[in-house]
Amino acid sequence: MKKYITTPIYYVNDKPHLGSAYTTIACDVWARFQRFSGHDTFFLTGTDEHGQKIQQAAEKAKKNPKNFVDDVSLTFKNMMNHLTITNDDFIRTTEERHKKAAQHLWTKLVQNGYIYPGEYAGWYAVRDEAFYKEAELVEGKAPTGAEVTWVVEQSYFFKLSAFQDKLIALYESNPNFIQPQSRRNEVFSFVKSGLHDLSISRSSFEWGIPLPENTNHGKEHVMYVWIDALTNYLTGIGYPDNFDEERFSQAIHVVGKDILRFHAVYWPAFLMAADLPLPKQIYAHGWWTVEGEKMSKSLGNTVDPITLTDAYGIDSVRNFVLREMPFGQDGNFSHASFLNRTNAELANAYGNLVQRVLSFVQKNAGAKVPEVGNLQKIDIDLMNSVEKIVPTLTHYIDDLKFHTYADDLWKIIFDCNAYVDQEKPWNLQKTDTDRMNTVLYTLCEIIRKIALMTQCFLPVGSAKILDYLAIDQNKRGIDALNTRLLSGTNLPVPSGIYPRFSA
Ligand code: MSP
Repeated sequence: MKKYITTPIYYVNDKPHLGSAYTTIACDVWARFQRFSGHDTFFLTGTDEHGQKIQQAAEKAKKNPKNFVDDVSLTFKNMMNHLTITNDDFIRTTEERHKKAAQHLWTKLVQNGYIYPGEYAGWYAVRDEAFYKEAELVEGKAPTGAEVTWVVEQSYFFKLSAFQDKLIALYESNPNFIQPQSRRNEVFSFVKSGLHDLSISRSSFEWGIPLPENTNHGKEHVMYVWIDALTNYLTGIGYPDNFDEERFSQAIHVVGKDILRFHAVYWPAFLMAADLPLPKQIYAHGWWTVEGEKMSKSLGNTVDPITLTDAYGIDSVRNFVLREMPFGQDGNFSHASFLNRTNAELANAYGNLVQRVLSFVQKNAGAKVPEVGNLQKIDIDLMNSVEKIVPTLTHYIDDLKFHTYADDLWKIIFDCNAYVDQEKPWNLQKTDTDRMNTVLYTLCEIIRKIALMTQCFLPVGSAKILDYLAIDQNKRGIDALNTRLLSGTNLPVPSGIYPRFSA
């Protein structure tokens, strides 16, 4: 079955931070795992480049909007490269292919009778690029804390109100459409409380996709940035000319909790109105604070993922963000817990296991995959432990339970360290070299299996480990779990996998 995962497209008003890296890393783990499992996978990310917020940011930077978005979009592209993100495409909403897709969708909505002209008079928050009802304001601001201004302008409206019952039916018939469950309940009550038609064009500024000419809609209007932005998920897979409907129906849109409403309410309504298939799931993750505070430019506490990976490595950052809190919940980034986790899990548990086993083999077992003698139950059980949990691990990734996925693998890493301490190959070297070889073989074999499974999570360290075990590039997929290491294979000299960092 075709697989499809998307990140939100990032606003280019500012450079990437831990929040943008977080969603991207999560989707990358998912995509890497699906490819590892042999699935035809497409992973889309990109940048959201239109709208008033971007126009204002360009003005502030004294650049024309196009040059401005070109520059900032590049910082996101660079982040993807820097973090070795395996996205299959990087979409920019200023690209011609996207303009065509957004206009096509608009035309379809017009043809189906879901767009009508009117005038919008209400509150608008540029920071959120969102319209708010009077009743939603909290002390004169948007519920998100963003400043709002009163806007009166000519606008086209989308008949969102016509979709209330259809959306409720969708959430009811497909309980996994919105995840996690608590978020689904929030959306459900929002829709149940009544939907108003949505203003979907703006006429007070120009930085956006113009409405298509063939619909006789005002030339001075540009599309509301959210209808433009959401369409990226279609553009990325060929809409309109080469649209891969089958893949789209498998789409998982991973988004932050702040933008769930756009994805779980407006997006399916647009799609239904245009007779298009719906995505499979919208998954809302939580937010990071930094040292207990909201991460913000004005507080000067934004965490730069590039600086962090340069200092501590890609795997440390991936491991921290996905292990520190279950996906879907909020969490806190603190430098001390980042170092603790990196040292405890990567250096002391995983890295140390591999290092102690492979250096021992290098020095005391002829630098080859050891010969295997009589396997005892304890050896077989350990070797089978990864294989046994693969179906469960697969479900965890399918359900974006990255945290639990890693927990289960880590348990096996701890079991391996305990096995080394119990079997004591350094003693066996003096008393029973056959048993020593069997124990070392068992360890090499289980390390290989663990490394196969950690590739999606910890790509850098896992690749090194598989290289040290002389595993061919084409023997690193899920099927390789059903094979065994070949005794006698020469092994290269290993070096440290994960360094320890001091505070
Ligand atoms: N451009 C829109 C998305 C359009 S998708 C069709 C947008 N962009 S954004 O750059 O403001 O945010 C992108 C993502 O980053 C959102 O999912 C948001 O939740 C996430 N995060 C921003 N700050 C974050 C944290 N502090 N922590 C975790 N994620 C955060 O919204």
